[in-house]
Amino acid sequence: MQAIMVSEFGGPEVLRVQETPVPQARDGQVLVRVLAAGVGPWDVSLRRGGWTGALPYIPGGEFAGVVVGDTGAGAALDDGALVYGYPGLTGCYAQYLTCPPEQLAPIPAGLPVTDAAAAPIDALTAEQGLTDVLGITAGDRVLITAGAGGLGHFAVQIARILGAEVVATASPQHHEFLHRLGAAVVVDHTRPDWPGKVRDATGGGAQRVLACAAPTLDGAAKAARDGALIATPVRAELPDAQRVRWQSYSGQPRGSRLIRMAPWFDDGSLTVTVQSLYYWHSAAQAHEVAERGHTQGKLALVVDTDVAAEMEI
Ligand SMILES: NC(=O)c1ccc[n+]([C@@H]2O[C@H](COP(=O)([O-])OP(=O)(O)OC[C@H]3O[C@@H](n4cnc5c(N)ncnc54)[C@H](OP(=O)(O)O)[C@@H]3O)[C@@H](O)[C@H]2O)c1
Repeated sequence: MQAIMVSEFGGPEVLRVQETPVPQARDGQVLVRVLAAGVGPWDVSLRRGGWTGALPYIPGGEFAGVVVGDTGAGAALDDGALVYGYPGLTGCYAQYLTCPPEQLAPIPAGLPVTDAAAAPIDALTAEQGLTDVLGITAGDRVLITAGAGGLGHFAVQIARILGAEVVATASPQHHEFLHRLGAAVVVDHTRPDWPGKVRDATGGGAQRVLACAAPTLDGAAKAARDGALIATPVRAELPDAQRVRWQSYSGQPRGSRLIRMAPWFDDGSLTVTVQSLYYWHSAAQAHEVAERGHTQGKLALVVDTDVAAEMEI
């Protein structure tokens, strides 16, 4: 099969198409023919040298594709079933991958495959942060920093679905987008005084916060009231920890949580914004955009040539 492989760390140019054997589905794993793969800032960090496994490796942590043969039988998935998932940090920029059955789920009928490919990591991480960590329920107010990125745009919508009022932060070019997704108040986080604006909008400081990007962590703490709970999946120093309660967490790759979100995708209350789609051989272009850090929603790669032709990519 073909795969994008990284043989040395570096810039986007180290992403090269190579021939490599189709992976073997062992120990109940599902073999998937990949249709599309999501791209996120984690792919950039690993490519720059964050990957601690062996070289070469195949990047990509999320996919949409079809089950091959009877490898999905243990999970009641037929040959050709459409699935999407989060098999791990790597392996998705390829024509085939293997995935533990509990880390994938059927693609909801309401979700195009290219949107599905870009959903698992950020949608799971957003939902987990809002429910398990912050315990958001109807009537709560939540501050979501960096609300227009991959993680943030899912978080804004899921918080609304849970019945919360959302105060979000973003650069000005994303404000209208966030209002459309349901944010009641959007604050410009390019202005140094943004934490004060959030404090004004929340009657003296946010009580619950999902901090979705490293450059917003300082401001998130300043925008929070004393004793507030701030959840973040971002790996960085957590400021002002005497005054506010930080809770670091990692999004878990659980197919069951994707299944729980399926009705939201089906009824259109949860949507995936894919800012740009690329034919997967142009993964380097997608990485150039990802590393700028101002994507609106997500980026995705189309791996299957028929899907690419259909979408005129
Ligand atoms: N541990 C986990 O399980 C896990 C899972 C998912 C994500 N994450 C982490 O969560 C973070 C966000 O991921 P993502 O997929 O949302 O990334 P992304 O799509 O690239 O979004 C980046 C966000 O950062 C904001 N930003 C960039 N520069 C900024 C600045 N100078 N000041 C304020 N905001 C700035 C952008 O907002 P504007 O464009 O509006 O400025 C954008 O919303 C990453 O660190 C990622 O690694 C961790």
